Amino acid sequence: MKIRELLCGSLLLLLAQKAFAQSNVVLQVSDDPNHSRISRFIYGHFSEDLGRCIYDGFWVDSALPVRKQDRIRVDVVEALRRIHIPVLRWPGGCFADQYHWRDGIGPRASRTRTVNTTWGMVEDENSFGTHEFLELCDLLHCEPYIASNVGTGSPQEMEAWLEYLNYNGNSALTDLRRINGHEKPWHVSFWGVGNESWGCGGSMTPEHYSNEYKRFSEFAKEYPGSPLKLIASGANADDYNWTDVLMKNTGLWNAWGISMHYYTVAGSWDHKSSATHFGETEYFKALKNCLHLEELINHHSAIMDVYDPGKKKALVVDEWGIWTNVEPGTRPEFLYQQNSLRDALIAASTLNIFNNHCQRVKMANLAQTVNVLQALILTDKEKMLLTPTYYVFDLYQSHQDAEWLPIQFSSPDYSFGNDKIPAINASASRDSSGVVHITVVNLDPGHAIPVSFNITGKNYKSIKGQILSSARFTDINSFDKPDQVIPRPFGDCHLEGNQISMSIPAKSLILLEIK
Ligand code: AHR
Repeated sequence: MKIRELLCGSLLLLLAQKAFAQSNVVLQVSDDPNHSRISRFIYGHFSEDLGRCIYDGFWVDSALPVRKQDRIRVDVVEALRRIHIPVLRWPGGCFADQYHWRDGIGPRASRTRTVNTTWGMVEDENSFGTHEFLELCDLLHCEPYIASNVGTGSPQEMEAWLEYLNYNGNSALTDLRRINGHEKPWHVSFWGVGNESWGCGGSMTPEHYSNEYKRFSEFAKEYPGSPLKLIASGANADDYNWTDVLMKNTGLWNAWGISMHYYTVAGSWDHKSSATHFGETEYFKALKNCLHLEELINHHSAIMDVYDPGKKKALVVDEWGIWTNVEPGTRPEFLYQQNSLRDALIAASTLNIFNNHCQRVKMANLAQTVNVLQALILTDKEKMLLTPTYYVFDLYQSHQDAEWLPIQFSSPDYSFGNDKIPAINASASRDSSGVVHITVVNLDPGHAIPVSFNITGKNYKSIKGQILSSARFTDINSFDKPDQVIPRPFGDCHLEGNQISMSIPAKSLILLEIK
């Protein structure tokens, strides 16, 4: 009897050990100095004059009963300040190539009324212009990133805008700036030369745009104390030829970087799926498309390496995020969509990819902050809510400007139908006070995954975790239930010296802080 029990017990133990050995993933975090920093600008955002992002998002009616500075919503500003938003891109997007900055300066009552032909033929009172955008950036404590107009603008218009913004001397344009209420220059540095010049920015070939880039950037003058970081309009997703031709023809000699746009769709561009009503098919497809970004970055970076082996020029992913159908009952051109736990996992995985490519990716801008596409914040009159994606940026902010720590591991698969993707992705960094942060994502909606981290180098004394997850991957924060998907403490992680063991619950992301 005793022998039978003993055998049974050992067999069970063996089986348990085997199961553990099969599924336990070891992530090797390298603490060796590699001198790479995760630029804080990877955590940037984008806000276009589109739908309810600027008007009725950031910039509201004077009669709306919320706290305001001028007409800027203070609750929105405060929420963004809590996550240390480092940079904000404006006025587009496609809108940038139809925007004429002079329409948006001077006394508001006499500003030119224009039509936003790109986004719904909306009449634009232009009450939110240059001064208001820069006031917003001041309140946010973030850097402005202005996308200038190449498609319907001229080098002369762009040159004048820069003089108005950045020159400290006396000229007709700086006099005008002073009359309009701003004595000192703003020192705007990030400067986009057009947007999607292959499409809505002018349907150009890369050869044609290379010449336009040279012509426009020649007149992008640097005024004393105002060095520019020029960003050339880059490729759409896997248009590698665009990057190659632009690098070859211009060498980006005067640029800080070149952009790339990539949106995740759960269906196809013609048949995108609902933001809230979807099953595992759309869940899987969206995640698979999101992870494809890594291949795009690898390929564009390899092309850039040919012309810029020292990685001096940045790849700037200045539009990214999931693009779904709009919420029922809202205007299709306004791109207002809800935001689920799935979208948070997309944001978390994308930021892990950016962190792990920080030697080339120096800036990224999620589309689009408030009420448009994968927004951080949704508003409804005086109400405001923070989306699951907002909380990803909250948890990940410790990576900003931290030293990147490479991670090596082999992920188990998350299989669906005949297809599969890596279930786990992760990134790690060490901040200036020596604290290590690891962000790890489990995309598998049905299985927790046991993992252990092995950090080379010194021993650590304490560990703290936070988790973002929810019962269903379709869960959202709504105006009635704004706290459905929020970070919660995660205590189920164990530290011994430089080894961490834990199990990552299904469809969740975790931030670990190790001291
Ligand atoms: O973010 C919405 C639009 O997507 C932008 O205006 C454009 O640049 C891109 O195609």
